Amino acid sequence: MKTQFNFYAKGLFLLLGLMSILSSKANDLVIIPVETAHNALLLQTDADKRLLMTYFGAKLADRDDYKLISSQNNQADGNGAISNHAYTPAGTWNLLEPALTITHSDGNVSTELQYVSHTVQQTTPDIKIVSIILQDPVYKTTVELILKVYIDEDVIEQWSVITNHEKGPFTMQKYASANLSFIAKNYYLTHFHGAWAREMKPEQTMLTHGIKTIDSKLGTRANLFEHPVFMLSLDKPATENDGKVILGTLAWSGNFRMDFEVDPSHNLRVISGINPFQSEYPLATGKEFKTPSFIWTFSDKGIGEASRQLHRWACNYRILDGNGSRLTLLNNWEATYFDFDQEKLVALFADGKKLGVDLFLLDDGWFANKYPRNNDRAGLGDWKPNAKKLPDGISYLVKEAANAGIKFGIWVEPEMVNPKSELYETHPDWVIRQSERPEHYFRNQLVLDLSNPQVQDYVFGIMNNLLSKNPGIAFIKWDCNSVIFNAQSTYLQKTNQKQSQLYVDYVRGLYNVLERVRSAYPTVPMMLCSGGGGRVDYEALKYFTEYWPSDNTDPLERVFIQWNYSYFYPAIASCNHITDWSKVSLKYRTDVAMMGKMGYDIVVNNLSENELKFSQQALKTYDSFKDLVWHGDLHRLASPDENPYASLMFVNGDKSKAVVFNYVVSNRFDITLSPTPIKLIGLDPTKKYTVKEINLFPGKSSTLKNQTAFSGDFLIKNGFNPDLNQHRTSVVLEVTAE
Ligand code: DGJ
Repeated sequence: MKTQFNFYAKGLFLLLGLMSILSSKANDLVIIPVETAHNALLLQTDADKRLLMTYFGAKLADRDDYKLISSQNNQADGNGAISNHAYTPAGTWNLLEPALTITHSDGNVSTELQYVSHTVQQTTPDIKIVSIILQDPVYKTTVELILKVYIDEDVIEQWSVITNHEKGPFTMQKYASANLSFIAKNYYLTHFHGAWAREMKPEQTMLTHGIKTIDSKLGTRANLFEHPVFMLSLDKPATENDGKVILGTLAWSGNFRMDFEVDPSHNLRVISGINPFQSEYPLATGKEFKTPSFIWTFSDKGIGEASRQLHRWACNYRILDGNGSRLTLLNNWEATYFDFDQEKLVALFADGKKLGVDLFLLDDGWFANKYPRNNDRAGLGDWKPNAKKLPDGISYLVKEAANAGIKFGIWVEPEMVNPKSELYETHPDWVIRQSERPEHYFRNQLVLDLSNPQVQDYVFGIMNNLLSKNPGIAFIKWDCNSVIFNAQSTYLQKTNQKQSQLYVDYVRGLYNVLERVRSAYPTVPMMLCSGGGGRVDYEALKYFTEYWPSDNTDPLERVFIQWNYSYFYPAIASCNHITDWSKVSLKYRTDVAMMGKMGYDIVVNNLSENELKFSQQALKTYDSFKDLVWHGDLHRLASPDENPYASLMFVNGDKSKAVVFNYVVSNRFDITLSPTPIKLIGLDPTKKYTVKEINLFPGKSSTLKNQTAFSGDFLIKNGFNPDLNQHRTSVVLEVTAE
């Protein structure tokens, strides 16, 4: 059966195509091509109405050819096993990892899913939503598979909705978001592991038969050991500009699991969703469960193109104010830690103003009285300003910042509590803990039970109180420093719900709070922070304008960390601060921070005259090209993993302007042999460009000769040599078309 859709109405978001196909006879095979601008995913039914994924790759020129695909593929098993179901149920014909496992109300553990109908809605010229209903013929329970297709960005966002149509409640042991099948010669998985100050470390492995799982069981700060992102190369390892590659991620701020299973026919199954670990979830009759979104993109032109697709999607559709502007700031965390009072802060406002940043961000340590927050062992949960440090409260600081001509922002960590706090004393039942066992702490703190609506109200109240009383607050840093130990909820116990709901209901509770914050305060910029980069994902980023990649602000480490995040997240969202963490030159630190959203966390007073002059000028220079970094296309030109230097470029839409960052990342002898010219892939070969070094330290002049114009063709094919060496460890280039 074939359907055609036309998009006629200009500017009107109308439902233009709506189709419902009921497969009445077994041999009424249904074919559903899900197409983006360049790619296609093919779903089709078999003779028993099971929905199978039979193809993913470049879009076929003739849609009729999709019918031929299954006859050519080696996905069927002569013994009856099915490995490419679009949402593999457990307990019937399946022999591999399932996407869905249910214990039905009568105790039966088998589920079958058959195609019932599907619809396709074109909601905007760029977005199509394909929805497919599958049903268990015995239990009548349904699964709706939803694929939201962002056509121009070549991105698919997919999730499923499981609805209980049985007479009694059932329990789901596993409820994945996506179940995909790929056919290739070989599969190379790159995943990103980490720990505190060591975020986003890539590791590539060729997948062998069996399952490779990446997951998290930490509850909160869930990405501490493993980030919910991956890169999957088909046939051979993709490079920046070559090869077939998928970038995928689960938009979920809690426990996740991604299984990569090479089946006996050497096809690859990818199943991704909430981690089933200790998370059996009950569903009452008539109720539905919506899984988080699995988001992915594919390019056959290498990792760079796939990243740019994901960046475009994230800025257009996901990150709060993704196409907007950001504030440069001066943070006081590394500059003062907990040691400040209001006089000191007011002096820092003046420093921020002198430096030239937009905002001053007050970090941890401003609250709690009975157990003052003078270190990380006390006070979390008691969100009243500390009367000793801040006798005139937050409103005084907001006012004084305004007087100094700088905006004011503030740090919170509202999901957490120190046992040494008034909150803990009054509401021990609000804390996630095992009352019969010793408490176990992560950074001396415990996590509040956000599955409890009262706790959600409390957390929303903290934010509402701060922002309603101080409308001048122009920025929030939302931190989350602890994982969940001893996962046990008094609320779930008292309300006769299952403890195994806690990990899921916590995250849902968090989103509920963030929804409320955003409906009351839709525009205030918020930084997503989690003891560094312990919580960076595309569901949380609906509510946040930016994220904190790592507490590690050593610029050399940051080249790698920021580079690795850049595969998945656009530069506008990456908070890069210049700090005193390392002794590396201020110029190098500044150049590294400039490749994202630049900020400072230094003692301005400690800067020498030249350093201050340089920083003031650097902020102005950043102003001149920040639009390229925030809204341009990223081209990673030379990887720090493969060279003694790193190089990356941001270029605008018509390729008339670019900025190129170059950093030495090694002090070995290699670098004294000047690097080979760096190919400025991403420019327009037909344009002429001038290349100028910018952001020089006072008194230094550029060693770059030949300021004449180069053809784009030359800069792409031969490249440009930024003259990096041990005396010029970072070089920023401005490239302008004539
Ligand atoms: C962890 C964050 O990552 C830091 O930037 C800082 O805000 C501290 N928490 C404060 O406790």
